[in-house]
Amino acid sequence: MSVLIKGGRIITAADDYVADIYVEDETVTLIGESLDVGADKVVDATGKYVLPGLVDPHTHLDMPFGGTTTIDDVESGQTAAAFGGTTCHVDFIIQPQGSTFADAVGEWRAKANGKQVIDMGYHMAVTDLAEGGTLEELASLPDEGITSYKLFMAYKGALMVDDETLFRTMEVAARTGALVMVHAENGDAIDVLVKRALAEGKTEPRYHALTRPPETEGEATNRAIQLSRVAGSPLYVVHVSCKEAIEPIELARDKGWAVWGETCTQYFFIDYSFLEKPNFEGAKYVYTPPPRAKENQEHLWNAVRTDKLSAISTDHCAFLWDGQKTLGKDDFSKIPNGGPGLENRLHMIHEFGVRTGRISLNRMVELLATSPARLFGLYPRKGTIAVGSDADIVVFDPEKKLTITAANQHSKTDYNLYEGTEVTGSPEFVLLRGNVLVENDQLVASPGIGEYVARAKFGQELRARSAVTQ
Ligand code: URP
Ligand code: ZN
Ligand code: ZN
Repeated sequence: MSVLIKGGRIITAADDYVADIYVEDETVTLIGESLDVGADKVVDATGKYVLPGLVDPHTHLDMPFGGTTTIDDVESGQTAAAFGGTTCHVDFIIQPQGSTFADAVGEWRAKANGKQVIDMGYHMAVTDLAEGGTLEELASLPDEGITSYKLFMAYKGALMVDDETLFRTMEVAARTGALVMVHAENGDAIDVLVKRALAEGKTEPRYHALTRPPETEGEATNRAIQLSRVAGSPLYVVHVSCKEAIEPIELARDKGWAVWGETCTQYFFIDYSFLEKPNFEGAKYVYTPPPRAKENQEHLWNAVRTDKLSAISTDHCAFLWDGQKTLGKDDFSKIPNGGPGLENRLHMIHEFGVRTGRISLNRMVELLATSPARLFGLYPRKGTIAVGSDADIVVFDPEKKLTITAANQHSKTDYNLYEGTEVTGSPEFVLLRGNVLVENDQLVASPGIGEYVARAKFGQELRARSAVTQ
């Protein structure tokens, strides 16, 4: 199958120019002005942006969490992603307590089998080095293409690890070429605050934020940074939500340390006041770290503009409001933590980042595709448009109007964080490795088209397919 995308404005992290793109089989094989080639399919992209397929480095599909399981499985989550222009994501395998890493990998690969709509890789969330996986086994994962280890410094009694586990994992990463990711919050302090609030009868959703003050995120961020320095591992701090966590990352980056930070779409738009919505509606916004005071939003825009923060993910961890979030009707600590977002990252960042002049189109592509691809060993196969790269391409209509609503979303959840938001600009055609994925607002390809991607080790490049097969 060959595809010719004609006359679009190609935007990568570095470039912005009008040209044609010729795709043969799975890769981009030619880019040039007025290409004189025949193709099985010709797409007129005049007046449209042509973007690399986006990469979401932080999602939770079909994940048991908070006494239930996320509502989006691989098929529904990836379908939502495809409509939002995301063609590759990296999901979290959570090591069940007492389980080996190999068993955990097997379990997660089985969940994806036959359901994949887009390409995906995995991070390994380490929960147990005492009874479950060994350090040796952990060290072997990067050779299988799982080149990042995630540790939760919060969720005491569930996913949280102690500093010894965190530090030992960092030491393994330093020698195996893995990137260490942290959910940075002080889980012990938060546990004290949660128990006290509940003992005082404070059960509503807003106490989720009031028991997780920004200082607990700042402290854990700084602790992880300092420990990674001692261990000699690179560090990526996920879902940064506030000034207190941006500051230590900024300091580390100013010093030239191997530290990166990510924020998520929702932190630019949802603030603490959403948790106060009546009739338990606030539970829709119970995710962790929690929605913060509004002034943090300008700190976040500034941080992504200036590369204090290097990526924007979704942390898509969707639950039904009616039937799952309601598990915490009488106790905010029982509300499953997480929110949906895979479909609307590009819509929201284009509308409120690019169209308002906060960030450039190039920077948007860098934050949503190139930088995650580079950090997580997917570049240059993913995250850019270049000869030899996978033909993961989004034709984006900058004039298309859309009202974001749960009624027309592809996630299985029953609400949307951005309900009623009107945006101008939306993907209209999406290719995955040269296969038409979305066209005329329909998913054209069938589940099973997506592939597992073995990622390169930290700092190394994932060789383009054409190079691999030569
Ligand atoms: O609330 C969230 N973020 N749920 C997903 C798990 C995590 O902490 O990333
Ligand atoms: Zn987290
Ligand atoms: Zn997460």
